[in-house]
Amino acid sequence: MTGAEASTLVERDRRCVWHPFTQRGMGGEPLPVVSALGSTLRLEDGREVLDGISSWWCNTLGHGHPELLKAAREQMERLDHVMFASFTHEPAVALAEELIEAAPPGYGKVFFADNGSTACEVAIKMAVQLFSNRGAERRTRVVALEDSYHGDTFGAMAAGERGVFSAPFDEMLFRVERVPAHGGAAGQKRMREICSRGDVAAFIFEPLVQGAGGMKMHSIEALDGYLSIAREFGVVTIADEVMTGFGRLGPLFASSLLKHTPEILCLSKGLTGGTMPLAVTLVRDALFDEFISPDHSRTFFHGHTYTAHPVACAVARRALVLTAQSSCVAERARIEQRHREFAQELQREGELSDVRVCGTILAFNRKSRSGSGYLSSAAKGVTQFFLERGVLLRPLGDVLYVLPPYCTSDGELEKIYGTIREFVRATTR
Ligand SMILES: Cc1ncc(COP(=O)(O)O)c(C=O)c1O
Repeated sequence: MTGAEASTLVERDRRCVWHPFTQRGMGGEPLPVVSALGSTLRLEDGREVLDGISSWWCNTLGHGHPELLKAAREQMERLDHVMFASFTHEPAVALAEELIEAAPPGYGKVFFADNGSTACEVAIKMAVQLFSNRGAERRTRVVALEDSYHGDTFGAMAAGERGVFSAPFDEMLFRVERVPAHGGAAGQKRMREICSRGDVAAFIFEPLVQGAGGMKMHSIEALDGYLSIAREFGVVTIADEVMTGFGRLGPLFASSLLKHTPEILCLSKGLTGGTMPLAVTLVRDALFDEFISPDHSRTFFHGHTYTAHPVACAVARRALVLTAQSSCVAERARIEQRHREFAQELQREGELSDVRVCGTILAFNRKSRSGSGYLSSAAKGVTQFFLERGVLLRPLGDVLYVLPPYCTSDGELEKIYGTIREFVRATTR
């Protein structure tokens, strides 16, 4: 069949598109989406799907938000794009100012990129080059949490837990030391041992919730313990708030709950309300200052064509205002409250374990009948079960979670919960 003969969008897609995280050999077709509004995706055949996971955890403010559309349209008409080395523009500068104001105290400079992996990659490179610029002590070791995920580019992948995603590349990835996210005396002891070797440049972590690792939740105390040890040994600390940022856990930034503010903060996803690709890496002035020099070789040589895209920056400025508004804070609190009520109900189900809520995220573990793990066919079946009932949920192995846009109404949440009830009844009794 030629492209001209292929009639449906899915047929045309099959001919020419390679989808992310998708194994064509296992069957299954992508769903053709024609439009989206609020928490609802509308498919080509007219069906509606409730987006229970904010479309890869990014759509915080709902699809088709009129104010974000307006910001994009107005900026596009004024300045669409310009290279960001040797040039600057109002949307980027204003966004940097506003992010520094909104973030936990201490950040002074904003480095722009366009996806979460790169925000983390940039942070790690900055930390390592900082020690290179100092000259005296070369430090190249990175410490990360067990089960962490920081993205799919090489550096971000190296920092993340090894597994099926990284297996073909494992020999090529730099070595990373790992500590358990729950901390504890053993974790603290290990952190101290690692840091005392003197070669650790950076400690990177997802604050309070490890997303791709299975919506695992850990305590502020555990992190503060690690951060205080890292600081003692001069290790640069990096909070990866790509998923947790912009109110996902309640406060604008999860790291604002920490006693020790991390030196670097990585943000993406909800930065534009989940509408446009943009990412930032926030650093302290003290770190930035160590790159300033008449020596060209101390430059941070990193950048991308679409760095600080003016339209994405303009949208992000508006998204930040909307996310910080008290009405949005109240929406997040409402979702958390509904999640907590439903969690109490789920806790009574014997086949489910570790029912947990953090901000707008509800997650629980289940024993699947036909095998477990990220790649199990059971996981695909679960997604299908929900899609057939008009709900988008995608399990992470045995973990099922709800992570909705903040505009999701009580009625829409009830539809998601009701489908989960039906699913639990159908699969565990
Ligand atoms: C915590 C965390 N860091 C980094 C990333 C990578 O972001 P991106 O997919 O935009 O590269 C993700 C993506 O899910 C994430 O959850």
